[in-house]
Amino acid sequence: LPASAKCVSSLINTGVRTATRQSSSKPKVALLGASGGIGQPLGLLLKQDPHIANLALYDLVGTPGVAADLSHIDSNCRVKAYTGAKELTACVEGADVVVIPAGVPRKPGMTRDDLFNTNAGIVRDLIEVVAKSAPKAMIAIITNPVNSTVPIAVEVMKNNGVDAKKRVFGVTTLDVVRAQAFVSELKGTDAAKTVVPVIGGHAGITIIPVLSQAEPSLKFSEDEIKKLTPRIQDAGTEVVNAKAGAGSATLSMALAGARFANFLVRAVKGEKIEACSFVASDAVKGVEYFSTKVQIGQSGVEKVLGVGKVTAFEQGLIDAAVPQLQKEIAKGVKFIKG
Ligand code: NAD
Ligand code: LMR
Repeated sequence: LPASAKCVSSLINTGVRTATRQSSSKPKVALLGASGGIGQPLGLLLKQDPHIANLALYDLVGTPGVAADLSHIDSNCRVKAYTGAKELTACVEGADVVVIPAGVPRKPGMTRDDLFNTNAGIVRDLIEVVAKSAPKAMIAIITNPVNSTVPIAVEVMKNNGVDAKKRVFGVTTLDVVRAQAFVSELKGTDAAKTVVPVIGGHAGITIIPVLSQAEPSLKFSEDEIKKLTPRIQDAGTEVVNAKAGAGSATLSMALAGARFANFLVRAVKGEKIEACSFVASDAVKGVEYFSTKVQIGQSGVEKVLGVGKVTAFEQGLIDAAVPQLQKEIAKGVKFIKG
């Protein structure tokens, strides 16, 4: 492997089990919102991913500069810029994976749901074009509020005659990345080998770290669990407050987004990937979407692997998350269905 590929591998290996069946196809990834705080560093990481042959960058502004800059990096992936609504169709045409960080971020004092009024319409309009020009693509949604934008995407695809329930993924990888960072720091384990599932959704109490399933198997005191759980749930707000009005997590999100996009391109190429993601799911009664570990293959989600064995405390977190998830999912569905 060239040095850059080794570097990317080290970023993307944590927490994934794979059954390898490599094919020679080299997927195209379309990145929508490519000039933004997440978009730029995410583009940088995707450009170095040896699994990606073509990277199509779309935004309302700035993509020619970002693409010119990235295209000077000596990796094999080809980068092309698309700017403004007229170029969106050409950007997504033929894409195997569409990654969407387009939309506004939080400022201190806001919830993710406060972004709904702006971001719901952005995701709806982008997915309208994806449904027509890349109906078979895997779609990874980063734009908040994820608990609502994922159902929005599924409903828009459905309106266009496309059943994409198994191919629309809410990116919750940052919650997993954070849990693994905080746990490895606390316990002194190797971060690259520390695996912590985070299930539920991607907002406040819907973010549910399952510390009892951490690998390597670790013992947490009650006090540690009571401190770690809200820290992981509120980690996004920790960054929003530290950035003091300049946006939310961008660098850690770029890593998380690149890691999840890598999972999807490898699935497209024939690997079986296991990862947590917010998807259409029957894992928990009463909610149509839920994040658990899922098995991803060429056709999208092949198996929902479910919640697994949890402690009474973790079951309490799941029960507490359900009403908020129901509300936020219904809000997204209603936005499209009226
Ligand atoms: P940003 O404002 O820095 O960048 C957003 C980009 O989207 C801008 O370049 C903007 O021009 C572009 N954009 C806006 N409307 C668009 C449209 N219609 N088509 C294409 N591009 C459009 O914001 P950011 O920090 O990159 O955050 C983006 C989103 O990601 C926010 O909604 C934020 O809440 C979310 N986010 C999610 C997670 C997660 O874990 N899922 C983590 C961090 C941030
Ligand atoms: C995060 O978890 O960092 C993102 O959802 C951004 C935010 O608003 O917190």
